[in-house]
Amino acid sequence: MNDNHSDNQLGRARVQDSPELIAYYKELETLGAGALWTVANDIEPWEPRSSSVPMLWKYDELRDLVLKSSELVTPEQAGRRVVYLVNDKRKDVSAAVGWLYTGIQVTKPGESTSAHKHKASALRFIMEGEGGYTVVDGNKITFEINDFVITPNSTWHEHGCDANGKTCIWQDGLDIPLINALEANDYAVYDGNQPIEKPTNQLPNSFATSGLIPADLVWNKPYSPLFKYSWKNVYPALIESLNVNKLNIYDGIIMKYSNPLTGGHVMQTMGAAMQLLPAGFKGKAHKHTGSFVYQCAKGKGFTIINGQRFDWKERDIFCVPSWAWHEHHNLSETEDACLFQFNDLPVIESLGLYQEKELEENNGHQ
Ligand code: FE2
Ligand code: FE2
Repeated sequence: MNDNHSDNQLGRARVQDSPELIAYYKELETLGAGALWTVANDIEPWEPRSSSVPMLWKYDELRDLVLKSSELVTPEQAGRRVVYLVNDKRKDVSAAVGWLYTGIQVTKPGESTSAHKHKASALRFIMEGEGGYTVVDGNKITFEINDFVITPNSTWHEHGCDANGKTCIWQDGLDIPLINALEANDYAVYDGNQPIEKPTNQLPNSFATSGLIPADLVWNKPYSPLFKYSWKNVYPALIESLNVNKLNIYDGIIMKYSNPLTGGHVMQTMGAAMQLLPAGFKGKAHKHTGSFVYQCAKGKGFTIINGQRFDWKERDIFCVPSWAWHEHHNLSETEDACLFQFNDLPVIESLGLYQEKELEENNGHQ
């Protein structure tokens, strides 16, 4: 705690227990009430406080167990055949960090799931395989490694892998813990598979990468019409930006996946970004509100989170809790590194809760 913020300051609760007060608290409790000064210092922290801890999930260690799930249960039995990643301090709400859930899903060639929908929003980041696809509200979208795909709140969705493809593995990101905390989640199962009435990839392919949008598109939904952001467009965009921009001292080149019609986040509750750390990049430390789940899409490096170093390489997943100091480093002197991340920034920002602080000591490094 900051020295300026002593609990003895005026305005903070500092009531000593006495037999009379303890009896008074018990009496209040019997009526479903309580004295605010007994909890005020706990429920009103001086600064944002996270109950999550920083964690790294190494893909090398998890991959075999993820694949083993495809021998043990079918997608029909499991509903969704996913190994989920849970924060040591958020097991009660099945969260990877804060109010975000993440998992690793495996689909073998020829497998597909039936369609369902829920109020929780979902996104995927593709890790391995060939021939993977998703169907979102009747739109069939195919995907490749490092593609980013969204399944917004209440859209019917199902996934599969073509019979002549290769086992597909992807990371799922959902806001299940948040929507459950708001007591607003639901779940419905579609009777069979969705009819596909439009050409495959019609929506993502309708948008050029040059800032053009279809002039006649009518879209009144609160999420991006793109559904898919292809790595084959995203990586060159990072390189182009690198060539003409100064580096962000914390994040290198960082670009947000956006709704091209609004410039805003891709969905109402979860945002996502891709960042490029040039060879030898040594990011400075800062902290801000919002919870973040990262996956290394390319290269190798490490992130120091609240003084603890986490070394990552391609496909490793790690989290940065809200208000945790963090700095990213690229370990290679010759290759760039790319970090995909998803977050709860749309919620944080729309509620006016975003704040950020730079580390001033030690030249900005932990
Ligand atoms: Fe789902
Ligand atoms: Fe950050």
